[in-house]
Amino acid sequence: MMVSTSVEQSTQFSVKSLTPFGALLEATEDHSDIQQLSIEQLCQLTWEHRLIVLRGFSLLEREELSTYCQRWGELLVWNFGTVLDLIVHQNPENYLFTNGNVPFHWDGAFAEAVPRFLFFQCLKAPEAGSGGESLFCDTVRILQNVSPEQREIWQKTEINYKTEKVAHYGGEITKSLVSKHPITGLSTLRFAEPLNDASVHLNPLYVEVCNLPAEEQNPFLNELIENLYQPQNCFAHEWQEGDFLIADNHALLHGRNPFISNSQRHLQRVHIL
Ligand SMILES: [Fe+2]
Repeated sequence: MMVSTSVEQSTQFSVKSLTPFGALLEATEDHSDIQQLSIEQLCQLTWEHRLIVLRGFSLLEREELSTYCQRWGELLVWNFGTVLDLIVHQNPENYLFTNGNVPFHWDGAFAEAVPRFLFFQCLKAPEAGSGGESLFCDTVRILQNVSPEQREIWQKTEINYKTEKVAHYGGEITKSLVSKHPITGLSTLRFAEPLNDASVHLNPLYVEVCNLPAEEQNPFLNELIENLYQPQNCFAHEWQEGDFLIADNHALLHGRNPFISNSQRHLQRVHIL
């Protein structure tokens, strides 16, 4: 993880900018209690930096995590409840639980409501150098730096997504590629990378650009996807045990690097509306 200059200080934590975006909040004392921090301040920092990583704070018990997140806002309740355990499974039905990569997407596309925040805590980090970093792409930054011509094309684009409900989501939806962040008002991209490759047998996601001839589908999607992975738009988080990470789900897309070697990783995630 790259850390640059300190941009802000508080009595409970220091704030350092991450590269190319994001902020690391380090507790000034070991085993600090995240529940003592101002939620309003953490929200502001998340919207400003797109994501924040908190380090040096004590982990929360499962129930405690859910109760704490309710102080941030209403929680999205799935068939498993509010806390999803992200662990690599032996016989996965959905790519989320494999050791392969997770393509870029935003959460809640197939749900009734899109969460404002993704709230993670890391119970067990993969060994250093074994892969499994979470990836975040700043779509606001992409739109701010793209040519006016490209932006105009994207603004007129709608995309259709289809996936079978194997895990906790599924269905068919059509979404505008460019959207507006409901809190900051900034323009964002809403996009999920296709998963219709022949090598992917688990829970494919079919993606079709509306009103675009078949031969233009792949060039259009490839150009868009190339932007997502540009180093200036993309932050890879190497987890450390005890990390909390809060991400702005309206501004960012997220995914995961594959694991290079067998490694344990256990995250817990909550969706805050
Ligand atoms: Fe996700």
